[in-house]
Amino acid sequence: MTTSPDGLPLAATGRTAQSVVLEAAHYAGKIHLQYFRGDHLGAREKRHADVVTDVDISIERELRQLLMREFPSAGFLGEETGESEGDSEYTWTVDPIDGTANFVRGIPHFATTIALLKNDAPVLGITYDAIRKDTFFAAAGRGLTLNGVPMKPNYATSIEEANLGFDIGPEEDLNVRAFDIIRSLLPMYRARLLGSAALGFAYAAAGIIDLYFHLALKPWDVAAGLLFIQETDADAVSIDFDGAPATPWSGSYLVGARNLLERMRTA
Ligand code: IPD
Ligand code: CA
Ligand code: CA
Repeated sequence: MTTSPDGLPLAATGRTAQSVVLEAAHYAGKIHLQYFRGDHLGAREKRHADVVTDVDISIERELRQLLMREFPSAGFLGEETGESEGDSEYTWTVDPIDGTANFVRGIPHFATTIALLKNDAPVLGITYDAIRKDTFFAAAGRGLTLNGVPMKPNYATSIEEANLGFDIGPEEDLNVRAFDIIRSLLPMYRARLLGSAALGFAYAAAGIIDLYFHLALKPWDVAAGLLFIQETDADAVSIDFDGAPATPWSGSYLVGARNLLERMRTA
């Protein structure tokens, strides 16, 4: 695969990976707005407490076509259309709507999130919130930007002052554990159940919140967000609940202010 001066693969049409991924995420956002609070979403449960719509599936199909046309030797890993192996070290991950449960009920907090992995490590990532027109973007070694502006977090120094985001999923035992963690951190006053893990990671990287945790996420939920955290600052870290550095396959995640994470992990 030909690479451009930024070290990332060039698209078949000669465009940069950054330009293609921005187009892909913003296209997805346009579709979000077209259907948001509309009548014909085709919402149903994939499994207990895990909802999908026709909009998720059609966006992912279109993004997959675009990315595979532009990067034919890359692999693909999408929430709704599955995995295909490529014949290069690159793989795209796509979550067409992260926060579908919010989207379906008309709660304006969800995003598209796309990442490019090189040998399983994220090197390019975007999370786009079409409602607020917020584009979180990072390329390895080039920092995190929010709408083109470089972001550096300025974290709270104690759990009492921290804004802590978290989310729960379909697994009841893990949800009990998540609420036990919150309970054991009391007194703390600003816990936020956000409903989009991708935005939770992006907010924690940008310092909009101080911490975010989740006990069961997938690579397509977190790949862009892990890069945001890595690209932000030495004060921001991502670990799993064993305390190991997080990867897209860790499953459980604690991200944000380094000085507060260990307290949360052992809560
Ligand atoms: C979900 C969201 C939610 C989290 C769930 C995820 P989806 O993704 O990120 O915040 O709690 O565990 O599955 O299904 O809306 O793409
Ligand atoms: Ca998701
Ligand atoms: Ca999704």
